[in-house]
Amino acid sequence: MGNFNSTSTLFNTSTLPFDPQEFPRETPRHYISATEQEIKDMLSTIGLTELSQLFVHINPTLLFPQPLDLPEEQTYQSVANEIASIASLSNHKISFIGDQLPVWQTPDIIEFVSNLRNLSTSYTPYQPERSQGTLISHWIYQCAMSALTGFEAINTSLYDRSFAIYEAITCAIRTSKKPSRILLASSLFPQEIEVLETLAKETDIKFDFLTLNHSTGRCDYQVLSSLKIDDVSQYSAFVFPQVNSLGVLEDVDLLTDFCEDNKIRSIACIDPFLLGEGSLKPPVEFGRKGADFIAGDAQHLAIPPNFGGPGLGIFGCRHNQNTKTDLRNTPGRYIGQAKDLNGRDCHVMVLSTREQHIRKEKATSNVCSNQAFLATLAGASILSKGSKGLGTAVELANRYQQKVIEAVLPLAGIDPAFPDNLSPTELTLRIDTSLSTLLHNARSRDISLGIDISDRCQTDEQGVALLKLSFSDLHSSEDIDQLIEFLRDEFAPTSDTASKKSFKIDQKFLRQTPIRIPAYSEDELCEYYGKLAELNVSPDDGCYPLGSCTMKYNPLLNDWAAGLDGFANVHPQATRGDAQGPLKVLYEIQEWFKGITGLAGVTTQPVAGAQGELVGIKLFQAYHQHLGEKDRKVILIPRSAHGTNFATAAMAGYPNGIVYLEANTQGTIDINDFEEKLEEYGEKLCGVMITNPNTSGIFETDFKRIADKVHEAGGLVYMDGANMNAIAGLVNLNELGVDAVHNNLHKTWTIPHGGGGPGDAIVAVSDKLVDFLPGKQIIQLKDGTYDSKKPKYSIGSFHRNWGNFGHKVRAYTYLLRLGREGIPRMSSVAVLSARYLFEKLKTRYNTLPENALDSPRMHEFILTLSEEDFANLENHGIPKNQAIPQIGKLFLDFGFHAPTVAFPEVFGLMIEPTESYTKRELDRFVEAVIAIKDIIDESPFVLKSAPHFTPIDRVDEVGANRNLRLNEPLDRLPPLPHNRISPSELMRLEIVEIKKRVIKLATDSQGLI
Ligand SMILES: Cc1ncc(COP(=O)(O)O)c(C=O)c1O
Repeated sequence: MGNFNSTSTLFNTSTLPFDPQEFPRETPRHYISATEQEIKDMLSTIGLTELSQLFVHINPTLLFPQPLDLPEEQTYQSVANEIASIASLSNHKISFIGDQLPVWQTPDIIEFVSNLRNLSTSYTPYQPERSQGTLISHWIYQCAMSALTGFEAINTSLYDRSFAIYEAITCAIRTSKKPSRILLASSLFPQEIEVLETLAKETDIKFDFLTLNHSTGRCDYQVLSSLKIDDVSQYSAFVFPQVNSLGVLEDVDLLTDFCEDNKIRSIACIDPFLLGEGSLKPPVEFGRKGADFIAGDAQHLAIPPNFGGPGLGIFGCRHNQNTKTDLRNTPGRYIGQAKDLNGRDCHVMVLSTREQHIRKEKATSNVCSNQAFLATLAGASILSKGSKGLGTAVELANRYQQKVIEAVLPLAGIDPAFPDNLSPTELTLRIDTSLSTLLHNARSRDISLGIDISDRCQTDEQGVALLKLSFSDLHSSEDIDQLIEFLRDEFAPTSDTASKKSFKIDQKFLRQTPIRIPAYSEDELCEYYGKLAELNVSPDDGCYPLGSCTMKYNPLLNDWAAGLDGFANVHPQATRGDAQGPLKVLYEIQEWFKGITGLAGVTTQPVAGAQGELVGIKLFQAYHQHLGEKDRKVILIPRSAHGTNFATAAMAGYPNGIVYLEANTQGTIDINDFEEKLEEYGEKLCGVMITNPNTSGIFETDFKRIADKVHEAGGLVYMDGANMNAIAGLVNLNELGVDAVHNNLHKTWTIPHGGGGPGDAIVAVSDKLVDFLPGKQIIQLKDGTYDSKKPKYSIGSFHRNWGNFGHKVRAYTYLLRLGREGIPRMSSVAVLSARYLFEKLKTRYNTLPENALDSPRMHEFILTLSEEDFANLENHGIPKNQAIPQIGKLFLDFGFHAPTVAFPEVFGLMIEPTESYTKRELDRFVEAVIAIKDIIDESPFVLKSAPHFTPIDRVDEVGANRNLRLNEPLDRLPPLPHNRISPSELMRLEIVEIKKRVIKLATDSQGLI
């Protein structure tokens, strides 16, 4: 694996569950694998002597003085100690908090699958032949959710339930062809209502609320039935929960039929955990025909609360004989069954023509990275529990609930608040004493009693408060006994139990049709998921050259830290006192990112790059509104930008306000074109969105000039920071003129990509926008403890909680290890590695942009073929539009993942090596890329049958899209294909040997493909 630049630090491995010395990329300083000598050699190959010379083309006034004003790096062991001591600041008690994030037992298989690096660290499965592991794991999730809900089409996740509801709303509007008016049940969670209102600002969407009946704790059905037909018919959709925020079951039959009768699309919010055997009725059974769309969350099936993040947003629609068009209007990714060119069964992503990378501002959504790895885990969790296990867990929670009800009935001053239609696992109690004192007293007996939800249902009764408790299989009967004992100590007995009645759930709320998802043993699942992982490749194994995705090494130390009890098991609604560990991490990371970007403020709430972009544009809107400039609705975006930029501007409410900026022949923004557009739209300008370094890997040297002119025109500047790995700790974004930037933690900041997510995107902003930031800012009080505070003019919230907290722990752990020297050094070596590869490959390949051969590359570059090469391939039956994707498949044969194909240049192969590989590994990669060029030149027919060593041949994606198959019963584990030669074996073979074998196989198969 190359000679790694190992430090001599001694590890006290006893505190860690793994020995870092056994993982060669884990121990080098700053996680940079190349030795100092290798760095010197690479510099010398490109004619330089110092890393700083890599950036001489950037105006020095834009660069940070070094060293940065940030803490120094720590040793591996001291990082481990520090992070453990922060986690220990949290308090862990018997908890009855559940509410919008119920907490259940996660089966042992979760830990096993979490540690399968080829699943957890690989990218979105854009190369299906080398991603069957991810694809099948997502297929299992889709099928399990389909079985539980009865819905035929479930996507492989959205960010969280609130975001899934919003996407369901936009989908309902598209399909109903009615005005964008939506009826929302007031009994939804307040956190999700806040997100919905934030997302809808500045768009055409308007919300009306169906009031709550304060005595039943449900929506007011009388109000609903008294709505005039004209009022009702204007709604596109009605959103309602099955179990509402007061812990009460809504009459989903009545609500769904109301929608059906009035031609409104119904969006039902569900909890999949409650849909197992013997539990609640699935949304397919709601009313006469079932709901139209579902939104929900499944984080609790996959992982512990993790301070509320990241969520696992479920979205589903019907797809059957009667309902065919909805699916094409939905957001997110779907996995379909497919065949390879030799008829083997396999899986592939389908329906991607709706997505932002193809349709830009016309896409159905801006979502790109989703919560893929949590979907993988939730699938494994359901297979481990089976539908029966889910039902049994709910039954146990229900027994606890019943026991507590029985215990409180003979007590005075405490009563079930809504005795009819209780949810099976929750209980809201009416308390006629001081609830804050009660909660305090419980805490002193080590019980987190539940939460105060009095503000969700304000009654006229003076001094009465509502306390909500959640029960689950995590509780023991001793926990319940302790709770009861506490309540008996706090409330005196009463003899008045005459009004008490049965609390059994009405049959009509329960599942009518049978469900059977078998439970598989842990051994079976370990073997199965272990095999799944072998079908993927990971950046652990070698260069994963996917441009724009920054597939660097993801340290094990980070994952260990995120899993510490004081982080993973803290509920987002825990009291401030119990959550000091997470709050400190959020505070520290806020401060680090101010230092890294040079900007004044930071929000840690967005959970992906695309969501960060949306935060940015919403901040711009709020800023302009605040200044009374309501007509600034134009966003300038370079044509080469990532599709999410356009889709984000559309989602923010400006589908018609997007103006494309053109590039010059050197691949940067054409300043003349920019000036013309500024002249034309100046007064209407909301802002500009620029990726820097741009998607061709070139630094936008006119960025500052453009930013100054945008500011002069009253606009604001968003920087897509997906490519921060090239400039972190080097370029001061404040000097550059940036007003908002997102930092993808799943790229630059070493968060595993999870086969498509969860991502994370810390957004930093200039001082103009600080008061508008979403979510809460973490502040440190005089006594050193941490608290949170809403900014003065906050635009609202983009996530029901704190965003993806676990990823913040991972990034913070990484930052502690890097320190002020490590951040710029990491970026410098990433740029050096790319420039070194570019130097070695530019003589064998043409490069893009066409006239930019001499523009200094940053962290990535684009290769292409000459027109003669393309013509030669055409002569051998490979059309020009298939040549680049097919060359991508040849990389798989050499044991690598493919570069990014066809983005941002249709005929380009974008390569990004990152700083994680030794020179020897990069040299081997060069050898492979040159061998691929030899094949293109000398044996072009090989491209037709590539790839050859993957578990399957090329996938028939067209067929899979034409004949959509989106689920199957899980009465057996989906069969697995087998590697013909595994990636690890390929890594051990000489490149010449692989080349020989590829040509031989292709020769043998000629005429068969
Ligand atoms: C340049 C660029 N911008 C934005 C995004 C979207 O980020 P995310 O997938 O985290 O939403 C990507 C993702 O690959 C990207 O490469």
